[in-house]
Amino acid sequence: MGQVLAIVSQKGGVGKTTTAINLAVAMARRGVKTLLVDVDPQGSVRYGMGMLSQHYRLGVSDFLQGDIEMQDIVRPTTLPWLRVALAGTIADGGTHEDYHRTFATSPRFDELLARARERGYVVVIDTPPGLGPIVQRVLANSDHVLVPLQCEPAAVQTTAQILRGIRGVVMQNQQLTFDGILLTMYEPGNAVSERVAAHVRSQLPQLVFDIAVPRTVAAVDAVAAGQPVVLRAPNDAASRAYAMLADQLVPRLQ
Ligand SMILES: Nc1ncnc2c1ncn2[C@@H]1O[C@H](COP(=O)(O)OP(=O)(O)OP(=O)(O)O)[C@@H](O)[C@H]1O
Ligand SMILES: [Mg+2]
Repeated sequence: MGQVLAIVSQKGGVGKTTTAINLAVAMARRGVKTLLVDVDPQGSVRYGMGMLSQHYRLGVSDFLQGDIEMQDIVRPTTLPWLRVALAGTIADGGTHEDYHRTFATSPRFDELLARARERGYVVVIDTPPGLGPIVQRVLANSDHVLVPLQCEPAAVQTTAQILRGIRGVVMQNQQLTFDGILLTMYEPGNAVSERVAAHVRSQLPQLVFDIAVPRTVAAVDAVAAGQPVVLRAPNDAASRAYAMLADQLVPRLQ
């Protein structure tokens, strides 16, 4: 049976999508049968993976409507072990209220994950910011959760809130393992960034991964190029961090 890993954060712009994409790719490159799923109505995975053609228009939001099948949205990629289910037409301007309602009430999303598990996929889910109904539904169906935290001064204020959010979530689903907080966009040599990282580690001992993902130019360029940085620049420091993270997580997910 496969397992489901949700990438979640109360805050926006902390590196959820970057983490979901690069972790999924790094796991697939280790021979893990991986399905990357985008449930964020912003649909950012489509850009990060460079899957822009009309061929890739349909995705999770369309599957939830019930007119199409799982095989219509689970797309092959250039990597033999990686499949991707994009957000779908909701990202082209559908009403988010309908999407939220369907997501919260339809059994289709649970079916999608159940079938992916049966097929032995490790499912990596990119979620919208916050702990709203979509993320709650995802977490109720997940086995693991990872929380990216951007190394910026505001992180110092939000750690307590993040911890409360995690506790609430894990209490609701006893099956859920909290894998850890991943420090992202870390700037070694930058005093503020280093102070934030040290503070978060001291406030949340045991909960923060030793690996921090550095902020790099290659990671920014990769988004513009529509290619995951771990593929485009495997020796980049951010790529190496995601590869090491995959090495740590794979044994827990199989
Ligand atoms: N390691 C990194 N180095 C440089 N830039 C990065 C890195 N990680 C993420 N970014 C950039 O930071 C921005 C936010 O990242 P990302 O889109 O992954 O965050 P998010 O949490 O998914 O945002 P949202 O809440 O809007 O979905 C993007 O422009 C991304 O390219
Ligand atoms: Mg995102």
